[in-house]
Amino acid sequence: MELIARTLRGLEWVSAAEIERRFPDARRIRMGNREVTFEYDGPAAALLRLQTVDDLFVVISRIDDVGATKGAVARLAQRVRGLDWDEALHRLSAARTAPDEFFFDVVASIEGDHRYSRFDVENAVGEQVAPLWGATHLARTAEGLSSSERPDVTVRLFVKQGAAVVAVRLSAAPLHRRPYKHDTAPGTLHPPAAAALVAIAGMRAETRAFDPFCGDGTIAIEAGLQHPGIAFHASDLDPARVENTRRNAARAGVEIDTGIEDAARIPWDRRGPGAVVITNPPWNNAVRAAGGVSDSLDVVWRSARPALRGGRLCVLADAKLDIPTRLAHLGYRRGFSTRIRLAGRVTSLILTGVQGDDRPELPHDLGEWRRRAIDARVVGPEGL
Ligand SMILES: C[S@@+](CC[C@H](N)C(=O)[O-])C[C@H]1O[C@@H](n2cnc3c(N)ncnc32)[C@H](O)[C@@H]1O
Repeated sequence: MELIARTLRGLEWVSAAEIERRFPDARRIRMGNREVTFEYDGPAAALLRLQTVDDLFVVISRIDDVGATKGAVARLAQRVRGLDWDEALHRLSAARTAPDEFFFDVVASIEGDHRYSRFDVENAVGEQVAPLWGATHLARTAEGLSSSERPDVTVRLFVKQGAAVVAVRLSAAPLHRRPYKHDTAPGTLHPPAAAALVAIAGMRAETRAFDPFCGDGTIAIEAGLQHPGIAFHASDLDPARVENTRRNAARAGVEIDTGIEDAARIPWDRRGPGAVVITNPPWNNAVRAAGGVSDSLDVVWRSARPALRGGRLCVLADAKLDIPTRLAHLGYRRGFSTRIRLAGRVTSLILTGVQGDDRPELPHDLGEWRRRAIDARVVGPEGL
């Protein structure tokens, strides 16, 4: 079957590498803007454990010459009605079971000139598919779903350059919505971004990893899911966030050592050498930098240096903080940096080591996929 994995903008290559590594039988892995398409006929349930992917869809069909006028909507809905909707449910059943009586919604994205709204398309398609499935269509307006029911199945239409790809979400909810992430507070990290950071940091089973700004524990938990049994110490100044980390980790079945600590006062000399620090520090947007870092994060990067000898530092932060320049001033050697789009903001992702050590490199497969993404102009050498 053909699948579309929706990804973060700028990290398409990380998801392509994850798909290839986890599914060696996957074929025709190709990257596009915010997506990776591939073919795969193996056990589908395992696909739901992809960590760097935002959302995953099974392609049902392609429809050409959709048209841009108001009248095009009814014609498109008629053509969608002619597709094999029993087969669509059958494909889902390889990964999970939908209840006998179920609710579904339709989500459309439309690129290019058109004289109709996404809601026109969604509601016209929903009306056509509902009787074929014997299911209840949950109509959508600009305010969201018009019912308090949650959809069991989502039909997805990608309309681009006059053609529509009709697909069905493989999971019930988007993959980025992790069941473990129940206890959260503002500024918490998008789990696929945390998983990408862990992949880029290149951890091994024996790695001792730290996140001194752990918030609700997303990075530590994604690391534990990627590398079961890894030693991870997650700390934060805010006791409520540390408690969130503990609860989320217990739900995820991941063991994490936690502490309430000011990142400016961590006894790094007892935590290295060879430490891997993976973190997303406060950006003074959703969460303010507090305690010993309220003026600058430099104190953390400076004091952590001895522990990072032979290790690496991987940071995700708003581009306006200009962390790459700060780290270069403080004796770090940049291995890799890129810019991605996260929650609508341009964000820097940096992998560094301390000066005097070998330059840290991307894991081999990630480096290969990044080169391909640059060659295919999916990303630029600096990311976005
Ligand atoms: C961007 S959030 C981290 C979000 C986290 N990655 C998650 O997934 O939830 C930044 C965190 O830094 C913490 N923080 C602010 N000042 C701190 C300090 N001096 N020491 C340690 N943590 C601090 C905040 O409490 C907040 O949880």
